[in-house]
Amino acid sequence: MIPILTIDGPSGVGKGTVARIVAQKQGWHLLDSGAIYRAFALAVQNKRVDITDTDALEKIAQKLDLEFKPTADGELLNVYLDGKEVSSILRTEQIGEIASKIATVSAVRTLLLKRQQAFAKPPGLVADGRDMGTVVFVNAAFKVFLTASVTERANRRLKQLQKQGHPGIMAQVLAEVERRDRRDCSRQHAPLKPAKDCLIIDTSELSIDEVVTQVMKIIKV
Ligand code: DC
Repeated sequence: MIPILTIDGPSGVGKGTVARIVAQKQGWHLLDSGAIYRAFALAVQNKRVDITDTDALEKIAQKLDLEFKPTADGELLNVYLDGKEVSSILRTEQIGEIASKIATVSAVRTLLLKRQQAFAKPPGLVADGRDMGTVVFVNAAFKVFLTASVTERANRRLKQLQKQGHPGIMAQVLAEVERRDRRDCSRQHAPLKPAKDCLIIDTSELSIDEVVTQVMKIIKV
């Protein structure tokens, strides 16, 4: 049995950072499932496919040439689409928005399922996303759901944008976070919701270190 920790939650909750730190501490593999949806969204954009054309979406998903390689310092994973490094393009709001729309297509989710499950390898896996504990790794030994108020998540997102040199407008960021929440939570297939057997952590008042400490407590191998 490969130990798997799933970390699900809405956008801007800090799951990516927590997942990366916990994976490093444990020496486990890391799955950033959002990056798979984002890379798929970029492929769709590059091929100028209409996102309502499900047949075309399916074809792209079947042929998706996607690779994750560690950065030189081994700290992060770079994403390669068709052999080209695309990590920073993937983080843009525009790609996140397309990814969130495409993620509502059930055929796409089914096609991307095996690709995600293939990340489960010894000595263990930390999987971050929206449906890791409810669909992709239902039998995972450890499940966490991170939440935070929408204002707090928009605040964090705004700070992140400013750190990257973008001005960012709070009202706009807040509206984007709310729109993404609505779509991710209300979609028919694999909507964002806590697994029945998960630990829910409200991170609104917690630092990253405090969240990591709580998550590490539940990992018992
Ligand atoms: O976590 P993220 O912001 O990188 O994800 C981008 C979008 O991809 C998100 O709005 C919905 C979709 N997604 C998903 O549907 N299921 C996942 N497991 C991960 C992401």
